[in-house]
Amino acid sequence: MKILVTGGAGYIGSHTCVELLKDNYDVVVLDNFSNSCQEALNRIQRLANKKLSFYKADLLESPSVRQVFKDHKIDAVIHFAGLKAVGESTCIPLKYYHNNLTGTFNLLSIMGEFNVKTLVFSSSATVYGDPSTLPITETFPLSATNPYGRTKLMIEEILQDLHTSDKDWNIALLRYFNPVGAHESGELGEDPQGLPNNLMPYISQVAVGRLPRLSVFGADYDTPDGTGVRDYIHVTDLALGHIRTLPKLAEKPGVVIYNLGTGNGFSVLEMINGFEKASGQKIAYQVTDRRPGDIAACFADASKAKRELNWEAGKSLDDMCKDTWNWQKKNPIGYRTQPKEE
Ligand code: NAD
Ligand code: UD1
Repeated sequence: MKILVTGGAGYIGSHTCVELLKDNYDVVVLDNFSNSCQEALNRIQRLANKKLSFYKADLLESPSVRQVFKDHKIDAVIHFAGLKAVGESTCIPLKYYHNNLTGTFNLLSIMGEFNVKTLVFSSSATVYGDPSTLPITETFPLSATNPYGRTKLMIEEILQDLHTSDKDWNIALLRYFNPVGAHESGELGEDPQGLPNNLMPYISQVAVGRLPRLSVFGADYDTPDGTGVRDYIHVTDLALGHIRTLPKLAEKPGVVIYNLGTGNGFSVLEMINGFEKASGQKIAYQVTDRRPGDIAACFADASKAKRELNWEAGKSLDDMCKDTWNWQKKNPIGYRTQPKEE
């Protein structure tokens, strides 16, 4: 079976490609390297000891996307490609709407042209807005509070409309909670450009000495220790969730929606402690004001994915912290420690 992975050189895409290759799928990656690089693809192939096909192409440019479908008989698409920084999306919303929405429109139209109608879409727990109770099930009301989140919500709705119009489409909307960690080899991981927006990469850059200290955004939330609580999920578990979704789509279920989380919430202070224990490094931090737009707590009810996909997250907080630290230590400045593009 041949899978097109858009955004396959990125953080979650690269881990998913390794698992796909290990599972004997043929993999074609399309990525414009706007937030990734060739080195990630080199490492995927080394880790899996297999080759993938690669197109350096932009989803905004239909002819190059069409070329991929001309060259390969694609069976299904896993669509990771998109811009993902919440803060940035509020400053340059049009770029986010254009890249994420137009990119997806182009992809869907071309898939339709070639009669490829099986899609796994990277959605996010951000579509639940500020949930009124916890844990969050897939039937909770949806809302968005920023342009990035709105692109996810809009694409979910567009995909539902597409299936309504043509029942041949089979689509999985996977709502990720907070992906963290890295490949256990330390060869693949998250490589944010500039200052990290998310907690784990920030902590690990403090640990490795790239940043002086972490700001803990608020310690006055209505949570056990006052700091924000999230459902952190190891990126390899998340990758495996995609692999388990493909056979489900082969059953032609229409549109299916799954939370991919662990079901456990950890606070910022618990993450700091977990990381200190796993790495043996002290994480300097100071409590600052809340980050605007943040919610107190968010964690999944992940039982639907367990029931229907036979998938559940197997890795612990300690695994997430150890693997993040291993990646950070081996690659203190990310993939840029390696030779530039081939
Ligand atoms: P990432 O930035 O590491 O990967 C995205 C990849 O898509 C990058 O390699 C980038 O170069 C590529 N890309 C972006 N726009 C493109 C375009 N127009 N054409 C071709 N390639 C393009 O991000 P990630 O963390 O791996 O996230 C993957 C997906 O999962 C995204 O859609 C993101 O919104 C979603 N998601 C991520 C998180 C998270 O915390 N990482 C949480 C929920 C959902
Ligand atoms: C962020 C995004 C969300 C996205 C999710 C997963 C925002 C507002 N939301 O959510 O849309 O789906 O990532 O990628 O960016 N924290 C600190 N100090 C830091 C960074 C974070 O204390 O330097 C705290 C936050 O307040 C939060 C927790 O750590 O309580 C996790 O933050 P983060 O990793 O940014 O993820 P989310 O806020 O869940």
